[in-house]
Amino acid sequence: MHSAPAVGAGPHLPVMVEEVLTQLVTTSSGLYVDGTLGGGGHALALLARLAFGGRVLGVDLDPGALDTARRTLAGAGDRISLRQGSFTQLPAFLEELGMTTCQGLLLDLGLSTLTLQSSGRGFSFQLEEPLDMRFDPSQGEPLAQVLLRLSRSQLADIIYRYGEERRSRAVARAIRGAAEAGRMLTSGDLAATVRSVVKGPQATKTLARVFQALRIYINGELDNLQAVLDSLPQILEAGRRVVIISYHSLEDRLVKHFFIRESKACLCPPQLPSCQCNHQATLKVVSRKPITPSAKEQAFNPRSRSAKLRVAQRL
Ligand SMILES: C[S@@+](CC[C@H](N)C(=O)[O-])C[C@H]1O[C@@H](n2cnc3c(N)ncnc32)[C@H](O)[C@@H]1O
Repeated sequence: MHSAPAVGAGPHLPVMVEEVLTQLVTTSSGLYVDGTLGGGGHALALLARLAFGGRVLGVDLDPGALDTARRTLAGAGDRISLRQGSFTQLPAFLEELGMTTCQGLLLDLGLSTLTLQSSGRGFSFQLEEPLDMRFDPSQGEPLAQVLLRLSRSQLADIIYRYGEERRSRAVARAIRGAAEAGRMLTSGDLAATVRSVVKGPQATKTLARVFQALRIYINGELDNLQAVLDSLPQILEAGRRVVIISYHSLEDRLVKHFFIRESKACLCPPQLPSCQCNHQATLKVVSRKPITPSAKEQAFNPRSRSAKLRVAQRL
């Protein structure tokens, strides 16, 4: 489970930069996509590793993240193209650049330290901000509004499924009650409500899980991840790689199972005498076990502790 980093932990440090570059870069020219650009840390390192023929398309849902990345990458000139939107729109973004495929795709999932600390949209249980939690505040509705519509059992399901929180029913009941009473407008309201249910040393873990669950739900994070995985055969050139860093077990499991499934030539049950599914393998799993940050990086950057990096190569 991804525990939220402490607020005030400093700027966002890109995770496992050397491991990302080693796994991702198979040619020093061509177009690489950073589908979760954030502050641009990985993209900057990637541009430095590529030769002058190498370009990067950087995509992020969060307009604030793009502003930061624009400053970080100001020296890259026309070697960088930026798009505000979801990595689920990559086929269209590539087409805009006159391409159908790319030479590598990086996804560093979740939330950046920057967004957690200074988006003003209520991602942190340590800050008092409007309860919004959308990566892209121009799409959909803020969380405070959505909470007015969700039933107690829907809320409990969300908290259990996306937060893996055992006290989901009790927490959902309290959130629903506070929302009905008009007391669920800020991240502070949500934190206080959770604390009214779970007290003592367990409270911080439950807070992290509840905030994570509601963020995943409001942003449709697992659906988006599934959609971009499904688009890999279309957008990744043969022989090129996708590198995905995830920070909690739900995402990592989804990536792992997708990679395994897509590396199989047949998905029929073993008792069938011959293949009837006509499935074709599209990926090769590059490392069976996830790559994790070194002890040194974990000590230096506590946010990296839960990171798991998986790599697959397009066949
Ligand atoms: C962990 S941060 C990436 C940090 C980045 N690698 C860096 O070096 O600064 C994850 C980013 O993904 C973005 N994001 C989340 N879901 C997205 C989606 N479906 N499409 C595009 N960006 C998304 C978030 O807004 C956030 O900025």
